[in-house]
Amino acid sequence: MKKTNSSKFSGSRETFLIFIVVGCGIMATLSVNLFNQPASVPGEAKVVESTSQHQKDTLPGKAPSVALLDVPLATGTEPLDKLFVQSGCAVCHTIPGIAPAQGREGPRLVLGTNGPLRLAEPQYQGTATTVREYIQESILNPGAYVVPGYSDRVMPRWYGKRLNAMALDRMAEYLEDLKE
Ligand code: HEC
Repeated sequence: MKKTNSSKFSGSRETFLIFIVVGCGIMATLSVNLFNQPASVPGEAKVVESTSQHQKDTLPGKAPSVALLDVPLATGTEPLDKLFVQSGCAVCHTIPGIAPAQGREGPRLVLGTNGPLRLAEPQYQGTATTVREYIQESILNPGAYVVPGYSDRVMPRWYGKRLNAMALDRMAEYLEDLKE
C-alpha cells in the first residue's frame, strides 16, 4: 500500500516538475521574441522602405504593364497572313484565304457579302457609310454594332492603340473583297 502511494505521489511530482520546465521554456521563448521584436521590426521596415524607394527611382517598377499595352502588334508591312495572326484576329475569326485563321469566337469574315447587309440593317447605329469604313469601325470600335448572335465585349477594345494606319488599311482592303 505504502509503495503504491509513494509511487503515485512521485508520479505527480514528476508531472509537476515537467510542467515547470516546459512552462519556463515557453516563458523564455516568449521573452526572447518580445525582446527581439522591437529591434527587428524597424530594421525590416527600413529594408522595405529602401526597396520601394529604389523601385520608385528606377524604371522597371511600373514599366511592364504600360509597355504591354503600348507595343504595336504589327508594323503593317508584314505579309497578310502574318498580319492577321500577329494581331490575334486569327484566334477568333475564320478568314477565307488566310490558312491559320480558323477561329470560331467571332463571325466568319466575309465582308464583301456581309458588309452591305450590316449597313442596311435597321439596327445599325454606327457611322460608317461604306464597307471599308464598316470594317475599320468594327476593329476600332467593336461596340458600335454587335453582329446578331455574337456577344459584345469579346473582341478587344484596344486595337486603335496597337494597330497603325497601314495595318488597318491593308486588313480592311483584304476583308472588303471577301465574298461567299
Ligand atoms: C477575342 C476574339 C476576337 C478577336 C481577337 C478579334 N475579334 Fe473581331 N469580332 C469578334 C466577335 C465576337 C465579333 C462579333 C461581335 C461584334 O460585332 O463585336 C467580331 C466582329 C468583327 C467584325 C464584324 C464582322 C461582321 O461580319 O460584321 C470584324 C470586321 C472583325 N471582328 C474584325 C476583326 C479583326 C480584323 C481582328 C484583328 C485585328 C479581330 N476582329 C479580332 C471577336 C474577335
